[in-house]
Amino acid sequence: MTKTSSYDLVQFGVIGGGVMGEALLSRLIANDVYRPTEILVSDPQDQRREFLQRQYGVQVTNDNQTVFKVCPTVLLAIKPQSLPSMQAALEHPLNDFQDSQADAEPNPLLISIMAGVPLEKLETVFPGQSVVRAMPNTPATVGAGITAIAAGTLATDEHLKQARQIFQAVGQVVQVPESLMDAVTGLSGSGPGYVAIVIEALTDGGVAAGLPRNIAEKLALQTVLGTAQLLQEAGLHPAELKDRVTSPGGTTIAGITQLERQHLRAALIDAVVAARDRAQQLGS
Ligand SMILES: NC(=O)c1ccc[n+]([C@@H]2O[C@H](COP(=O)([O-])OP(=O)(O)OC[C@H]3O[C@@H](n4cnc5c(N)ncnc54)[C@H](OP(=O)(O)O)[C@@H]3O)[C@@H](O)[C@H]2O)c1
Repeated sequence: MTKTSSYDLVQFGVIGGGVMGEALLSRLIANDVYRPTEILVSDPQDQRREFLQRQYGVQVTNDNQTVFKVCPTVLLAIKPQSLPSMQAALEHPLNDFQDSQADAEPNPLLISIMAGVPLEKLETVFPGQSVVRAMPNTPATVGAGITAIAAGTLATDEHLKQARQIFQAVGQVVQVPESLMDAVTGLSGSGPGYVAIVIEALTDGGVAAGLPRNIAEKLALQTVLGTAQLLQEAGLHPAELKDRVTSPGGTTIAGITQLERQHLRAALIDAVVAARDRAQQLGS
């Protein structure tokens, strides 16, 4: 089957032009992975489509079927609860999609970022399709995310390379077996929520210690950001940094003693495990 002529240039389809869809497409364009005209975004909202077209110069449609027909790589960026209605609307056209892709593109790829939707389910909805499941996190919206990817049964090394390239546009990428995706959700997926609380609490601590709130906020935020950057850039183990900043009988060890008394480590470990367990529950 030949591609619709106005979409001849299209290489990358995005189903769902929401927060994550926009974050990815904007960075893919900024990083020269795709040109705007090579991206086709499908979204039901007129205003959203108009915004994305105006802001980024991408092509837009309200017809998912067109995206599946013309794009060799499709990103599914809808909410998991929207999948059944999307599937119902596409049941018939998906057959066309498979036929057309089999004729037109040697390596069509579907990448899903829908939280909690397993590869087995995706491969049932899109039979015969190469699928990669991915779990980005919210800092991806500012290009500082980390995404875990897991390969479906038909995904090749080339597909994984392609998925990596796409998510590298919004941060770092790790590959895991799908069985570890819930653990990823518990750590990096939910982690921004934990770190936000830590920053808020440090700010409150600063206020309790006498600082004006606006100054305390700045100090807390940059301390977390700078510490993470230092660990990453210097390749330091966190324990090594902690040892370096704790002088005998000094201020930092006095603070750490309180954190240990209040079981900060155990609280964070429990948080990750509880979120992993909740992700497992939601997915079953
Ligand atoms: N945001 C994050 O930090 C994050 C992190 C990890 C994973 N994820 C995953 O990423 C996915 C998208 O999340 P998001 O935060 O970007 O959600 P979002 O902002 O709500 O974006 C989803 C977009 O898809 C549209 N949509 C709904 N049904 C559709 C359909 N049948 N065809 C085409 N478009 C449709 C929605 O339109 P309406 O608003 O009209 O429904 C909305 O514009 C979710 O599955 C989520 O689990 C998000």
